[in-house]
Amino acid sequence: MENEQLVYEGSKAEQYQQLMANIFALIDQEPELIANLANISAALKTQFNWLWVGFYLTRDEELVLGPFQGPVACTRIQKGRGVCGTSWERKESIIVPDVNQFPGHIACSSLSKSEIVVPIIRFGEVMGVLDVDSEHLNHFDDTDKKYLEEIVASICM
Ligand code: SME
Repeated sequence: MENEQLVYEGSKAEQYQQLMANIFALIDQEPELIANLANISAALKTQFNWLWVGFYLTRDEELVLGPFQGPVACTRIQKGRGVCGTSWERKESIIVPDVNQFPGHIACSSLSKSEIVVPIIRFGEVMGVLDVDSEHLNHFDDTDKKYLEEIVASICM
């Protein structure tokens, strides 16, 4: 199959670097946002096999569920609520090593133990967030933050 995705090996940084070349090639010529967010979710899920990875998009005063891979999730999140709404409010990425220690964390799946949320910011406004959940505690670090921020920066919105 022309688009079949390899699963890359190596350090986490090397995996991201190889995957990102793929992602950029996939989205580079495609103007349709939903198609690109869907493929980015699928590419990340295939590579890292996280519990849940996907996007929420800002619609008025809420985040609304967008393309994702994983179990069904909460559809709407208010600004300032949960990790996603807090990332929106603060306009910064948030790494949560243990979701039970994050006040107000919204548990879409009881299997989720740690999380990273990266806001998509254009001209100072948060257009949405990339949210990733893991079944393992303390799963995300500054390497994830660095590369996931690069990925969201590449999305044309
Ligand atoms: N845990 C998130 C909600 C989204 S789900 O994890 C997919 C939060 O606290 O904002």
